[in-house]
Amino acid sequence: MKIIVFGGDGFCGWPTALHLSNKGHKILIVDNLSRRKIDIELGTNSLTPIEDIETRIKTWNKISKNKISFYKLDIAKNYFELKELFKSFKPEAVVHFAEQRSAPYSMKNSSTKSYTVDNNVNATHNILNAIVETRLDCHIVHLGTMGVYGYGWTGKNPIPEGYVKVLVGTTREEKEILHPANPGSVYHMTKTLDQLMFGFYCKNDSLRITDLHQGIVWGTQTDETKLDKKLINRFDYDGDYGTVLNRFLMQAAINHPLTIYGKGGQTRAFINISDTVKCINIAINNPPKKGDRPSIFNQATETRKLSDLAKLISKKTSAKISYVENPRKEDPRNDLVVDNSKFLKLGLKPKTLNEGLMDEVQNITLKYKDRVNLKTIYPTSKWVVK
Ligand SMILES: NC(=O)c1ccc[n+]([C@@H]2O[C@H](COP(=O)([O-])OP(=O)(O)OC[C@H]3O[C@@H](n4cnc5c(N)ncnc54)[C@H](O)[C@@H]3O)[C@@H](O)[C@H]2O)c1
Repeated sequence: MKIIVFGGDGFCGWPTALHLSNKGHKILIVDNLSRRKIDIELGTNSLTPIEDIETRIKTWNKISKNKISFYKLDIAKNYFELKELFKSFKPEAVVHFAEQRSAPYSMKNSSTKSYTVDNNVNATHNILNAIVETRLDCHIVHLGTMGVYGYGWTGKNPIPEGYVKVLVGTTREEKEILHPANPGSVYHMTKTLDQLMFGFYCKNDSLRITDLHQGIVWGTQTDETKLDKKLINRFDYDGDYGTVLNRFLMQAAINHPLTIYGKGGQTRAFINISDTVKCINIAINNPPKKGDRPSIFNQATETRKLSDLAKLISKKTSAKISYVENPRKEDPRNDLVVDNSKFLKLGLKPKTLNEGLMDEVQNITLKYKDRVNLKTIYPTSKWVVK
């Protein structure tokens, strides 16, 4: 299959592009390299020494019979160039990772808020528009987030996969609607707007769309990125882009206390990066039919309370734990049970935290700990403007 991976230079996009290439697909990566520019802006770096995109692709193309190509483009700003790209490459599927994905960065100041909205909403809408205008039969697989549901779910039932049944009015008429959106940051808000655009374009233009509500991704390497050191994946550890588990792992490696925001009663959903790439392959192989509503999967394999996660890492590494003021506006504690049966039924065998944690500590964080910029460990973005 011919597949465009939008955002294919990023943390999830790069290993996904390699995995899909390894499965025999013809891959074109489209990325504007904005994530690398934001590293410079924030004075941070990937803990792992990632190569530039040209070297990455040259290295892969030397070892793989399936070649990957790259096109540099800002898809939020250049609609007509994007449309031409669709016309010439004629993808049968696209995977859409090309959004500003840090919640803290999206809350930093008025310009990062506006940038996140402009970039994410336009990137998604331009892809939808281009598929409609080129009349291609192209399946969109989009990376959404578990955060669209919010973290206020206290019910005994697990969070369903995208849709909920409700009883309306005095006649108690049964309807199935999109799960109410409850974003916790400007970034999450853009993902809830994505959902509305997907619903509209499925209804109006019969596009085929799969939206993957992904949990927090942890880990670094996949089977493909391990094949050559020049293929290594990025690992973000800073207060803005570092996801919580990767931040804890890096902190343990440098003997820094694990920084829990608030009391650590927040429960979040997680997935290992090697399961992310497998889920995307499964989604590509199981597209919805034309005329269907967006197909939604919960792409998460485990839920953990953040204080329990810190204790688990502390037990394995002897790291200390420290509690810092929570920069976010969120409930101090929540329960979270997630239905992920669609992926399990389609064959996903999740890699658990217990299995993978020490591998990550030994092979990544201890190995590259000298690259840490200590100044970027603490959070600097705050949710409430004072
Ligand atoms: N990392 C996680 O824990 C996580 C969890 C849930 C969902 N997601 C979603 O998965 C997707 C990928 O996340 P990631 O961690 O790989 O992020 P990332 O920032 O590492 O990668 C995103 C890539 O998209 C590119 N990009 C951004 N805007 C673009 C534009 N306008 N035009 C072209 N390229 C553009 C960036 O340069 C970057 O390479 C995001 O949409 C994110 O919301 C990630």
